[in-house]
Amino acid sequence: MKYKGIIFDLDGVICFTDQFHYQAWKKMADETGIYFDEVINNRLRGVSRMESLNIILERAKRVYSDDEKEALAEKKNRLYVEFLQKMSPADLKMEVKETLEALRRVGYKLAIGSSSKNAKLILERLGLDDFFDAVSDGTNITRSKPDPEVFLIAAEYLKLAPKECLVVEDALAGIDAAVSGGFDSAGIGEAASHEKVTYPIARFSQLLEIEEG
Ligand code: BG6
Ligand code: MG
Repeated sequence: MKYKGIIFDLDGVICFTDQFHYQAWKKMADETGIYFDEVINNRLRGVSRMESLNIILERAKRVYSDDEKEALAEKKNRLYVEFLQKMSPADLKMEVKETLEALRRVGYKLAIGSSSKNAKLILERLGLDDFFDAVSDGTNITRSKPDPEVFLIAAEYLKLAPKECLVVEDALAGIDAAVSGGFDSAGIGEAASHEKVTYPIARFSQLLEIEEG
């Protein structure tokens, strides 16, 4: 096997919370009188909550204080968590579930490397709370992707070196993070077009072909 471990981003790779993020940010922005659309939302992929808010505030008509920003980020998160509470194991795609189980059978150590502070709640909602060998997320990092910290900590939790791990990402910032941490990567969605991605994939189940190749 070329790799001993696989580190998965969560949002956009294991589950599809993009629309929840969008709708929660959109409501916050509308109520605050700030322009926000899906194009701006695309820039938030892989980026921490506060950095996402800073991107949204580029369109604001005035400067917001740190306390105001905290309140806006909290408001968005409350709306977002309401969506998450409605998720259930039925929201875990069969293809994702079966591929994860097959990778586990092959003998890979499996970890999450997500910028989200809600990662553990999402894993719980999907019935995956006990599945991964390690979870590195927004609660244990000080720098968000494209900084490699979240993946370096995931590798450390797995007791593996970056070269022994493959990172799976949907965000361009996530591939940048993998590259700067010394990890090979598999890119799905927008990340498949990153010029530095090791394996561009169109479907999650193609991770099984990487193992064979
Ligand atoms: C990432 C998402 O996984 O987590 C980003 O791609 C999001 O869009 C970030 O901003 C932080 O999420 P949370 O749940 O901590 O607000
Ligand atoms: Mg993602």
